[in-house]
Amino acid sequence: SDKELQQLVCENRKALGSSLFLPGHHYQRDEVIRFADVTGDSLQLARQSAARPEADVIIFLGVHFMAETADILTPDRQRVILPDLRAGCSMADMADDRQCEEAWRQLTDRYGDTILPVTYVNSSAAVKAFVGRHGGTTVTSSNAEQVMAWAYSQKKRVLFLPDQHLGRNTAYKGGMSREKMAVWDPIRAELVPDQPGAALDDAELLLWKGHCSVHENFRMEHIQQFRSEEPDRQILVHPECTWEVTQAADLAGSTSYIINQIQQAAPGTKWAIGTEMNLVQRLAAEYPEQSIVSLNPDMCPCLTMNRIDLPHLAWVLDEVSSGKIVHEIRVPEDIAADAGLAIERMMSLTS
Ligand code: 13P
Ligand code: SF4
Repeated sequence: SDKELQQLVCENRKALGSSLFLPGHHYQRDEVIRFADVTGDSLQLARQSAARPEADVIIFLGVHFMAETADILTPDRQRVILPDLRAGCSMADMADDRQCEEAWRQLTDRYGDTILPVTYVNSSAAVKAFVGRHGGTTVTSSNAEQVMAWAYSQKKRVLFLPDQHLGRNTAYKGGMSREKMAVWDPIRAELVPDQPGAALDDAELLLWKGHCSVHENFRMEHIQQFRSEEPDRQILVHPECTWEVTQAADLAGSTSYIINQIQQAAPGTKWAIGTEMNLVQRLAAEYPEQSIVSLNPDMCPCLTMNRIDLPHLAWVLDEVSSGKIVHEIRVPEDIAADAGLAIERMMSLTS
């Protein structure tokens, strides 16, 4: 039963003490996040994992790319466990290193040495390594503006992987017109203007054609419905949502930004939030004096985040307690070294 599983988790955690570190992303289920040592967005969790040298084992309550980043950043490459290995990220899966090399070949043929690659941390270690090898950096939704400004101080053009929406929204906010953007389709291996008729020669932002299947489900029709039925409800969305939705919303920002907005709001404030279901539901429960609903009535869970559940957590903890490492995430040395360059570059820009 759940009660027995919870008891098992509590006992094993206590027995392992500070040799175990349990970071948890805000999109995780209630049934596991309640056991996390720290909760945070992807940047906060990466920093926290690096700052726990006393932990021999990190059980990551999040998705595969986050566990890879924890493995890369832990000074002695502590053992990192992902309770369910099927907890991937459909966005990260939209770019692989072979596709990156092909894009780089074609894009540098066209634009020469004017491009810096930048990847959202929601990408595989192999893609981060490609970026690190070419002098680029990682970025998260909470530091995207700052890191993009640095990227443009280095080169005239940025290749932004793998989320076209975060790339487009960030550059537009920084003052770039959509005429200066183009989209790289990794399946067709071709570049098309973001706005019909715009000249590819003028493009300064080359957006990888990837997206988050959760955040793309917040659509203009949802905003229009709230605007007509409840005009006093504020629309607050994550920048993984499309450009149209982000523009039409009242506010847009990273997971931490969304949480800060709610924390600072007055009782009685009404919100419709465009981000993952577990976070929206948790905020609604924690701030009952405000009115918090999902922007999409279907709620929009991230199926892979939700794969980390209480039975998986209880099982891996039990194995660790008996000295066994299961479901380990281990990035090969050479990839970890190059990916580490890209992550460290971001860290040094934003510390
Ligand atoms: P952040 O935690 O950086 O806001 O990322 C959101 C997300 O989609 C994580 O998978
Ligand atoms: Fe990936 Fe989107 Fe899920 Fe985040 S919410 S893990 S970007 S699919």
